[in-house]
Amino acid sequence: MCGIVGAVARDNVVPVLLEGLLRLEYRGYDSAGLVVSNNSLHRLRTTGRVAELIKLVGEQNAEGLAGIAHTRWATHGAPSERNAHPHISGTESQIAVVHNGIIENHESMRERLQTDGYVFVSDTDTEVIAHLVDYHLKQTQDLFKAVCLSIAELQGAYAIGVMEEIRPDRIIVARNGAPLLLGLGEDGNYAASDASALLKVTRNMIYLEEGDVAELVRDQYRIVNCLNNQLGEPVERVVHKSDLSNEAIEMGPYDHFMQKEVFEQPGAVANTLEMVFNAQSISPNLFGAQAESVLSDTDSILILACGTSYHAGLVAQYWLETVAGMPCSVQIASEYRYRDPIANPKTLVVGISQSGETADTLAAVSYAKELGHQYSLAVCNVAESALVRQTTLRFLTRAGPEIGVASTKAFTTQLASLLLLTVTLAKMRNKLSAEREQQMIRALRHLPAALQSSLQVEPEVEVWARRFSEKHHALFLGRGVHYPIAMEGALKLKEISYIHAEAYAAGELKHGPLALVDSEMPIVAIAPNDQLLGKLKSNLQEVHARGGELYVFADADSQIEESENLHVIRLAEHAGLLSPILHTIPLQLLAYHVALKKGTDVDKPRNLAKAVTVE
Ligand code: G6P
Repeated sequence: MCGIVGAVARDNVVPVLLEGLLRLEYRGYDSAGLVVSNNSLHRLRTTGRVAELIKLVGEQNAEGLAGIAHTRWATHGAPSERNAHPHISGTESQIAVVHNGIIENHESMRERLQTDGYVFVSDTDTEVIAHLVDYHLKQTQDLFKAVCLSIAELQGAYAIGVMEEIRPDRIIVARNGAPLLLGLGEDGNYAASDASALLKVTRNMIYLEEGDVAELVRDQYRIVNCLNNQLGEPVERVVHKSDLSNEAIEMGPYDHFMQKEVFEQPGAVANTLEMVFNAQSISPNLFGAQAESVLSDTDSILILACGTSYHAGLVAQYWLETVAGMPCSVQIASEYRYRDPIANPKTLVVGISQSGETADTLAAVSYAKELGHQYSLAVCNVAESALVRQTTLRFLTRAGPEIGVASTKAFTTQLASLLLLTVTLAKMRNKLSAEREQQMIRALRHLPAALQSSLQVEPEVEVWARRFSEKHHALFLGRGVHYPIAMEGALKLKEISYIHAEAYAAGELKHGPLALVDSEMPIVAIAPNDQLLGKLKSNLQEVHARGGELYVFADADSQIEESENLHVIRLAEHAGLLSPILHTIPLQLLAYHVALKKGTDVDKPRNLAKAVTVE
């Protein structure tokens, strides 16, 4: 989704802006642009990649001591140069605006501004902000006030950066529902959508809060909050030292971030479970100071999430019901927020999100609160995210930055965290004997090694990938707790290889999808040696008998033999409750290698964004 970088410094800021945009590329975008000020505004925009913008900067010698830059993921208006940011307005002198998010009242604002004589040259909602700021600037002659007065009129969730021609030494930024932070450096002050964009210049970060407007000059900054006062009240915000390492956001020896992140999973899961590895028993405190009292008062679970995180929730539902005896419902956040569900104050609302910034998940968790749910827990990979800030309890997946758009290590660390939640609740509800608890701790300690052994199947998966790359459709089958893993496998394949893939609960095949089966339709099945294996084998027979080509990921002891049109890759061990985590790995590898064969952009698949900060 859109990325913002702003800078005011002692030297030319263009290299910092471009480096920042490169770092934000992972968020997903389809055009890029920047503006620098050197007594007049110099704007460059392209529908190409940031590399194209870098070329333009070189050709046109763009330089300045202050600037704002942007990667745009189109919402209002096609991805074109005309719609790319920054957008410019100005009756007396020019101002430029970059924006992430959506302005919901843009249509009425547009009409009003047109009546005031403003001419729109793009289809974006962002241009409304540019003209509105200019309108207030004419009245107040002060850009800072003009931004404050403008945001009082804008509805929606957004972050913006603004600068003006006549003050080429400062930028103004504002946050309302979309992420934005300040970076305080020795040679200048900066702003960005996330910390990774600024690591080359500073580690001192301020996470802006809702309604904050900040003015940045080279050696100073000030912040006001406009939630209760149109012109803002001065506020102090804590400066955090980012401990994000450059290695964590660089590709190192890998060809793609996704590949790096798939192979980082043993370490990411080990980091996430570190506290358990060092403990003799599992304690509710892992989920926050209030966890003991909240969890003991909880009688059911409501999970809200999107995309891959939603699939993690579906796996957790099986675990919570089976192991903890806990009623659990899992809802797609964008659906839940527009339903009229019945709230139960004793239900724990669990928001699962890698980024902690997904607009639908944030809105669904807030809505659940409005409906009367009093307890909430964030399972999230970003400590300073909006989701973590809005919940009663939190558990941080310590996967490290995930840059590939297709989520991998975030998913397996979410699963590890949710299993921990399950075991914690089971223990508190007297559903877990001391012996079983120790077995679980041992199994969790072994998980990184087991993940390592799952990764060993890569060469075999690569052979399969060659055949898949010529296909247009694929079916994924699983049963029980492995059905959501089949859903995740299908999602990975479609996201990065653009092959149409659907997942079905294997028992459901005969109720429709079996009609699709022919020799052109590869069928991937997840066949762990669990209590449903016998049933699954019957379902596979139904496919085999109709000439379908089966690709089965089985456990070593699943006793499914290779035959014509039935190919088997065996994982080293059967991991009991942890099996869904291990069976995820070969599916990620399959999608990755199919995408490689097809030559698609693995890390930045078309049309997709990493952090979806709009509805
Ligand atoms: C986007 C990403 C997906 C992710 C989903 C939810 O669609 O491309 O990979 O699963 O958002 O993101 P979250 O950060 O809330 O887990």
